[in-house]
Amino acid sequence: MSKGTFYITTPIYYPSDKLHIGHTYCTVATDAMARFKRMQGYDVMFLTGTDEHGQKIEEKAAARGMTPKQFVDEIIEGPGGILDLWKLMNISYDRFIRTTDDYHVAAVQRIFRKLYEKGEIYKGAYKGLYCTPCESFWTESQLVDGKCPDCGREVKYAEEEAYFFRLSNYTQKILDLYEKQPDFLEPASRMNEMVSNFLRPGLDDLCVSRTSFKWGIPVDFDPGHVVYVWVDALTNYITALGYENDRYNDYAKYWPADVHFVGKEIVRFHAIIWPAILMALGEPLPKKIFGHGWLLLDGGKMSKSKGNVVDPTVLAARYGVDALRYFLLRDFPFGSDGSFSNELLISRINTDLANDLGNLVSRTVLMVEKYFGGTLPADRQAGPEDAALTEAAAALRGEVEAEMERFAFQNALSLIFKVTSRANKYIDETSPWVLAKDEANKARLAAVMYNLLETIRICTVLLQPFMPQTCAEIFRQIGAVESLRTWDSIAAFGALPADVTVQKGPAIFPRIDMAKELAELEKLTQNN
Ligand code: ME8
Repeated sequence: MSKGTFYITTPIYYPSDKLHIGHTYCTVATDAMARFKRMQGYDVMFLTGTDEHGQKIEEKAAARGMTPKQFVDEIIEGPGGILDLWKLMNISYDRFIRTTDDYHVAAVQRIFRKLYEKGEIYKGAYKGLYCTPCESFWTESQLVDGKCPDCGREVKYAEEEAYFFRLSNYTQKILDLYEKQPDFLEPASRMNEMVSNFLRPGLDDLCVSRTSFKWGIPVDFDPGHVVYVWVDALTNYITALGYENDRYNDYAKYWPADVHFVGKEIVRFHAIIWPAILMALGEPLPKKIFGHGWLLLDGGKMSKSKGNVVDPTVLAARYGVDALRYFLLRDFPFGSDGSFSNELLISRINTDLANDLGNLVSRTVLMVEKYFGGTLPADRQAGPEDAALTEAAAALRGEVEAEMERFAFQNALSLIFKVTSRANKYIDETSPWVLAKDEANKARLAAVMYNLLETIRICTVLLQPFMPQTCAEIFRQIGAVESLRTWDSIAAFGALPADVTVQKGPAIFPRIDMAKELAELEKLTQNN
């Protein structure tokens, strides 16, 4: 039975260049969360997609001698494009929206008209400082060192006839929202930023149409104007459910969203502009915005120009998709920035995946093969070392659940790996190779093996959202059939049948020779 619905989204990505590991980060986090909720029994809607309009795309396409649509089609659907990347990374999205999809275009036009008819949008003239890459107008006081506060690039003076959204009417309403619902925006530091940088000074009306370029959704009642790309983009979260269109019919079922995952630089759009638009439309607000940090490279923001080291396709080919997924969520607290490096990635694979988990699985399976021919006898004898391990394993589900509720992926994974370490320690404590010397210890040895297999099983069930392929292989090796891979099956310790049969298999994570690998990566970077 379904526990209810869970609607989660990633930002929709600009198809302006190939995506790098930083983009992959948020999508992998969303995927892990979606898989976790599905495993718990929720009816999940996981939405991702692409944000295809705007001047930046128009200019890039022109530079390549293509129409904007040809240009975005290639980046999204072409070989090695965004769809291929999500397939490679095993991203289990339920729906993919493209803002060039007809139903979205028509819905945005209806939304814009609705806001205009309600008096929430009016026609005026815009004079101000414009950042082309961010497609944002700024006031003098918002600039940082005279440059765009979001990206740090030059802004230029621009003037155009335009439509405005009465955002200034929403300053107090958004402040009230934050006060009433202090967990609307997390981490809390991001809420403080919004309050002190934007809300306390008071919001200005927002320019929501452009006439300076063509590649956007035309305002249907004034076709010289195209809809501001952020209004077009933000509304994807509802048009993809069927809001103001009949392509889909899930709005009543899934809206309001349980959480929008977004990068920290676009929190302002999601935590101020988006709720204001929804309030203006008279629609419910998302339950939560989570603003995650950036993966930094050499202390700075990543870009594709930094080459192979940030290309998720290259990294996945060298280390495996699951290792990469694991690393992204294990090494960096989701709400903060983190420094990406190949050393960190390789050392994480070696310590956690090869030494800790990989070793535990292969040692255990080999011992069951060696001492019992692969099938455990039903006769088991408990021992004094057992409780510490079995109690930790039994408590794990609840502990991991609590961390996942807070989107604390790092903590959730760290708890699971504490238990795998505990299991490795249990092997040392019980010394199965000593027990195996005396036939009289057979029942004790069987209990030790059983406890290890069952602990591995519990950990593996909880690791599935993070490393789906590897977990399937571990389950195969420890003899856990489909019904033993579920959330319900780990409610208590001991669901694995007493006479389980294991199957030896390849090492799940071979150790990487750090020095050799770094030298090879160096070569790759130079040839790039
Ligand atoms: O902002 N580390 O699209 P986008 C972590 N189209 N996250 C990173 C990152 C890094 N190094 N680099 C980028 C847009 N991101 C809009 C969204 S939503 C209605 C519209 C994240 O392709 C970034 O923080 O520029 C953002 O959340 C996402 O990638 C998409 O960025």
